[in-house]
Amino acid sequence: MDEKKIKIGCVGLGPRGADLFYNRLCAVEGTEPVAVCDLDAKKVENCIKELEKRGHMNVKGFTDFAEFLKSDVEAVLVATDVTTHATLAAQAMDAGKHVLCEIPNIRSVEEGKMLAEAVRRNPGKFMVAENCCYWAHINAWKQMYEEGLLGEVYAESDYLHPAKEIWHPEVKREKTWRSYMPAIHYLTHNLGPILYILNDTVAEVSGFIPDINPIEEAHPAPPNGVAMVKTKKGTVIKIFIGFGVCTVEGSCHNFGLYGSKGCVQTARGNTSNQGKTMASFKHTPYLKGYVDIPVYPDYPGKSSDGHSGADFIMMEDFIRCIREDKEPALGIDFGLSIALPGILADISSREHGKTMQMPDFA
Ligand SMILES: NC(=O)c1ccc[n+]([C@@H]2O[C@H](COP(=O)([O-])OP(=O)(O)OC[C@H]3O[C@@H](n4cnc5c(N)ncnc54)[C@H](O)[C@@H]3O)[C@@H](O)[C@H]2O)c1
Repeated sequence: MDEKKIKIGCVGLGPRGADLFYNRLCAVEGTEPVAVCDLDAKKVENCIKELEKRGHMNVKGFTDFAEFLKSDVEAVLVATDVTTHATLAAQAMDAGKHVLCEIPNIRSVEEGKMLAEAVRRNPGKFMVAENCCYWAHINAWKQMYEEGLLGEVYAESDYLHPAKEIWHPEVKREKTWRSYMPAIHYLTHNLGPILYILNDTVAEVSGFIPDINPIEEAHPAPPNGVAMVKTKKGTVIKIFIGFGVCTVEGSCHNFGLYGSKGCVQTARGNTSNQGKTMASFKHTPYLKGYVDIPVYPDYPGKSSDGHSGADFIMMEDFIRCIREDKEPALGIDFGLSIALPGILADISSREHGKTMQMPDFA
């Protein structure tokens, strides 16, 4: 490639950040890793070793984010824990960098306002790393919706995560920041793809959280919750996040779009069915039931590494937006639209399901 390489870096080198950086972002053509940062010097050292194994010999390591920002890095992956996403992303934008920010990108309404202002006052590109929007079946459904095959839709989605993976009597895990975050805040993987398909945004939200916490020892914050979302175009979306549940096999994201002309849904059950599309269409005569369309999260002929290949395709999109000076589809407005509803649902649940209006930070 003749074009100048984009100098990339990453802050937050936990299991997610490290893998996403050296296996995905660095694999995008036209990128050059120049700097990595974590509070933990050991993680910085390990990441640099992994980068060297992949032929990247001149990457600088930092334990101080302010120093990292002084380097020549142009585009930053923010993959720290949720408590720091908004602050670090805003600092990076103010330092003139482009930012790809892990989700949820904010943890409060105030952080949403602060981050929106930081993004809007800077020319750099800002994108949220909502990888589930890059699944093949989500993009196939989006095309079907846009072609009018589904008509007006009601949508629902759930994220089921087996309680045994969070807490097990024999496997005592150290509690992380995740255990203290109400699971409903983590609805972005479910709401994100639906809003993306519908090209819609959220108007109001109600939340309902059970009084019972079946895994309190491991997850002090409520592990289960429901958000009811009404969109600006008038669609209703129901999201259930169930981290304290007993699923059949592994964790899974189920989706369903139930329309006036057609329905598409993922086959429920276990991870091997996840993403397999079941569909029915009004225009198909004598259809006796749902048909099984072979559209899965991964793309035919492409690697399914990293969330069925979605992580890499997302990285390519981020770099393309920088190179072509295009606003990312998953920019700040989208980021707020998928992160604020979980926060509002949590507040609403403590006020008997009171309807919360989405703030407008335009
Ligand atoms: N999109 C997905 O599919 C997906 C999957 C897993 C995790 N995630 C997200 O990725 C993020 C990271 O997940 P993880 O499991 O690797 O988390 P983690 O908590 O294990 O790692 C976070 C790392 O950030 C570092 N860090 C925190 N504050 C810092 C600071 N100010 N400066 C430098 N380093 C700092 C910590 O030392 C730690 O090494 C989370 O926000 C999570 O929600 C997304």
